[in-house]
Amino acid sequence: MAAVLGISGEYHDAAAALVVDGVIVAAVQEERLSRIKNDARLPIHAARACLAHAGLAAGDLDRVVFYEDPVEKLERVLVSTLRTFPRSLRQFPRALGTQLGGKVWVIDRIAEALGVARDRVTSTEHHRAHAASAFLCSPYPRAAVLTVDGVGEATSTALWHGDGTQLRELGRIEYPHSLGLLYAGLTAYLGFEVNEGEYKVMGLAAYGKPRLGDEFAKLIQLASDGTFELGLPYFAYLADAELGFGPAMEQLLGPRRPAHRPWDLEHSADDQHYADIAATLQQVTEEALLGLAREARWRTGEPALCLAGGVALNAVANARLLRESGFERVFVHPAAGDAGGALGAAILGAIELGDPRPAALASAALGLPIDQGAAGDLARELGLGVRTASDVATDVAELVASGKIVAFCQGRFEWGPRALGQRSILANPADPDSRERLNRAIKRREPFRPFAPAVLRDRASTYFEGAPSDLTPFMTTVCSIAPDHRERLASVRHVDGSARVQTVDDATAPELAAVLGALDRTIGMPIALNTSFNGAGEPIIGNEIDALGFLMSHPIDALVIGELVITRGAA
Ligand SMILES: [Fe+2]
Repeated sequence: MAAVLGISGEYHDAAAALVVDGVIVAAVQEERLSRIKNDARLPIHAARACLAHAGLAAGDLDRVVFYEDPVEKLERVLVSTLRTFPRSLRQFPRALGTQLGGKVWVIDRIAEALGVARDRVTSTEHHRAHAASAFLCSPYPRAAVLTVDGVGEATSTALWHGDGTQLRELGRIEYPHSLGLLYAGLTAYLGFEVNEGEYKVMGLAAYGKPRLGDEFAKLIQLASDGTFELGLPYFAYLADAELGFGPAMEQLLGPRRPAHRPWDLEHSADDQHYADIAATLQQVTEEALLGLAREARWRTGEPALCLAGGVALNAVANARLLRESGFERVFVHPAAGDAGGALGAAILGAIELGDPRPAALASAALGLPIDQGAAGDLARELGLGVRTASDVATDVAELVASGKIVAFCQGRFEWGPRALGQRSILANPADPDSRERLNRAIKRREPFRPFAPAVLRDRASTYFEGAPSDLTPFMTTVCSIAPDHRERLASVRHVDGSARVQTVDDATAPELAAVLGALDRTIGMPIALNTSFNGAGEPIIGNEIDALGFLMSHPIDALVIGELVITRGAA
């Protein structure tokens, strides 16, 4: 029996996760505590928070596992930088600087910062950590596993066979050939921020036509065995990690889209062209993933597939995998990006020390709780209206039904990028005005980014085709809205008639389930518009101070924390 802390960071989203005696006790992204979106620094706050939540001290840890091998990663950076010399001259000192300046000493720095003996801190492989997060949190005893991201140490894609507590690697594709870097390069080309704008590209894709197949055949070549190669001259990341595409890309597809220019898909032929590029990219990504998945099915013979890595956050592609890859069941880790590697690393460490595999992940509420008492005291001190609801679910449903926008905080915050009913903003899914106001005043999303519905699990199939599945509890897929309900659910419907559905029950988010039940009685559907509780570009709300600050600076109508209903005016 062991206490193992997993750590990810120093590249993308940093996180810490704690597994004690084979039980996932806590998992926290650093950004939720530091309030810096995608905070990549060593997650010391998150690590300490996980320990405090469990009532443990650093000295109680049997092992700390970093999610990748810093030495192998350094080797990849050096080799790929030298290969492109002298084009890479400019980047060389920078790459070397970040690696030597800290990352190779990351194990020592973790030991020192946490106060753990150096010999208790180890590392695993980046893609093994992703694979563990997917398979060892899934409900399947055996499965094929695909890990697909930008790049780990040197691997960008790997195929695994999971059996019980074991993961056996069956094949890999190495950097610079990478679906994550293809998507990232085009995300940058389309004027969005890499590691943040990929969701926007996916949303934009539904507005375009995938008519640039000939051009994309130069960017990526798919082989019949599921492997692929990128057309490297089009990608600049070998020489310049910050841009991701080279001048050849602009010769092929036209000039890049300027960042921050407002979108006008109705009237701008240019923007329609960019939407077509997004559509083609999405199609090519789906086909590449389908090729990998079919190979995985054939090689393993397993009926279930698990996925992790940043590319597995592509909910539209996941839906296609479930429909077309031949697998009967598909599971994606809720924190499929690099944060999730922390939990994968912790589970690998625990198993190595002889602990059993954790139970299948039922809920993403693995973060820190919100303090209702402290929230009430602080809210009164700030002169806000505070009342205790006699029945929170009924109160929230009535507010939402009457067109109010309600921030809803219950229990521990979520693990991964989606708000799943613990730190959500809720609105009436049948009221276009609520949606408009929510977007204009709070979320400020591009017009092509849809909002998502949360629905009671046992009623989901009435409204959404293919729901529920193993993907819907964590919003890692999209479903078509049933034709009879498309008009009424226009506020949570994408232009192609799909929706990124979350199915909710007492195991995943009991308080939200109760609200959905109450909404069924008030609006006749157990469905809410559910979006993350944060402003544009901010991390999702963590504690009561963040939540009250949000209420005072954004025009939401009510903030519900536990049983308290807090408003700007008198109660
Ligand atoms: Fe990764």
